[in-house]
Amino acid sequence: MRLIEAEDHEDLGRKARDVVIGVLRTRPASLMALATGNTPVPMFRELAAVARTDPLLFQQARFVTLDEYADITSDDRRRLLSWLNREFTSPAGIDQQHIIAFEPRADHLIECARIEDAIAEHGGLDLVVLGLGPNGHIGFNEPGSSFASRTRKVALAAESIRSNASYWGSEADVPRNGLTLGIGTLREARSILLLASGASKAAIVARLMQGPVGEALPASVLRLCTKAILLADHAALSEVDHLIRS
Ligand code: GLP
Repeated sequence: MRLIEAEDHEDLGRKARDVVIGVLRTRPASLMALATGNTPVPMFRELAAVARTDPLLFQQARFVTLDEYADITSDDRRRLLSWLNREFTSPAGIDQQHIIAFEPRADHLIECARIEDAIAEHGGLDLVVLGLGPNGHIGFNEPGSSFASRTRKVALAAESIRSNASYWGSEADVPRNGLTLGIGTLREARSILLLASGASKAAIVARLMQGPVGEALPASVLRLCTKAILLADHAALSEVDHLIRS
């Protein structure tokens, strides 16, 4: 895993945009899995601005949702697909037909197999953009997830329910289960970009960079991947030992 430092959240958005655009220029028909959450919001804004000036650049790209809440209705306000649409695909003018999204009410075994098949049919993921949960989760792969895990339904960890409460009001508003691309699925992507921004991520970023690699910290799998980049801003890196950073 390679580290790229950003000044702050806005700078992280610009640097992440450059990585995404670089992949698109190399392979216009790329398949990308994109995280939701607050971290990628500036990146989405930057990408939407590029898409408005150069819509052809995005025309052949296809997108897959990284994760979704399970057991909610298709039009639930908490649907992560709606988050992706609001922050990125709508302002970028991306055709809904170009998005492969989890259907939260479908039979989860069939649905997860459908997503895996769609990725395989495309020839694999070209880029995965991940956020970092405060407990080290990537997608909804919670601590203890196998590094070989595939796309599946999972129970959300208590810490994820706590952190996701800020999106929806209270912990009671957070669905208890999720659907997520598996760690094994994500590891097969040609490029992986992990984003971390803000002081609230400093402790988990320090653990990620300095602690042991293992299934107790799902994101640590990326330390085994030479094609993975951690793009983090100064606040998120503030607890990392200086020697390791340089
Ligand atoms: C959430 C999502 C992840 C997201 C992460 C970080 O629970 N399941 O996909 O990347 O946690 O969220 P944020 O960027 O809001 O800190």
